[in-house]
Amino acid sequence: MTKVLIDCDPGIDDAMALALAVGAPSLEVVAITTVGGNADLAVTTRNALALREFLDLGDVPIAPGSPGALLHPVVRAGHVHGPTGLGDAVLPEPVRAASDGHAVDLIIDTLRAAPGEVTLIAIGPLTNVALAVRKEPRVVAWARDLVIMGGSYTRGNHNPAAEFNMLADPEAAAIVFESGWTVKMLGLDVTLTAVVTEQVLDRMRPLGRLADDLLIPAATCYGMVTADGGPAIHDACAVAYALDPGLVTMTPAVVRVETRGQYTRGMTVVDFRVGEEVPNALVGTRLEVGRFWDTLLDAYGRLAERLG
Ligand code: BDR
Ligand code: CA
Repeated sequence: MTKVLIDCDPGIDDAMALALAVGAPSLEVVAITTVGGNADLAVTTRNALALREFLDLGDVPIAPGSPGALLHPVVRAGHVHGPTGLGDAVLPEPVRAASDGHAVDLIIDTLRAAPGEVTLIAIGPLTNVALAVRKEPRVVAWARDLVIMGGSYTRGNHNPAAEFNMLADPEAAAIVFESGWTVKMLGLDVTLTAVVTEQVLDRMRPLGRLADDLLIPAATCYGMVTADGGPAIHDACAVAYALDPGLVTMTPAVVRVETRGQYTRGMTVVDFRVGEEVPNALVGTRLEVGRFWDTLLDAYGRLAERLG
């Protein structure tokens, strides 16, 4: 069983990633932290709380974190995820509140309590993770792994150069990549191949209220439609990698985040050349798409059975 802490900004694909983590038999979600990103922090936190109840996650702690980037004004993705952040999915208002305390402290405390055991999966802007590293640099050693959805080595999505999570807080991303861990980076190069096609939707439809209330209304409204005819559920790729690293081909690289370029702020500059520098990342270069969907739908099926 791999313990995971998920730092997120739900977000349609964040919600689908959380559902994957909850349904996967070999993952245990030990904590959730939220960050302002796709929507304002109040919205992403509300959605995480609603998802905790909808997905029957029990007492897993949820702590809100940073409302915006370290240095610059907020960037949002309301045009992609809709005003509620969850597309057309309407989940009941959560009954239980978030934990007292800040996401940064929940990250630090969770990793400190089980050194080498908890994989940190970050699927929003990296503000909370950067602040955790700055507050307690030993989190790098305590984490079993750091897996992120973010960046790319070919193109951006929010603009031609930058992927959304990187652009939303480039300085935080730069801190994270410079902190000494080998970041497992699932960027657009692989996540854009995780497309919810009509065939995938057909496989989701029989999954009871998990499908009716969350997966289908979220996925069908997801704004970032790809050329392949459906939305790519980027964040689920990060959870899938934590679940089964064999699903993604990873290539060592030195990754730097552009923080100053007039047109390239937030770009991940990925150097695959094996030189004198020690790689600071393993970068996803190929997703086994068929096995990815089999894994995801298996986990969703188990979850759907539990939820009824
Ligand atoms: C990333 O940006 C967000 O809109 C998604 O939730 C995902 O984390 C994709 O670029
Ligand atoms: Ca996200």
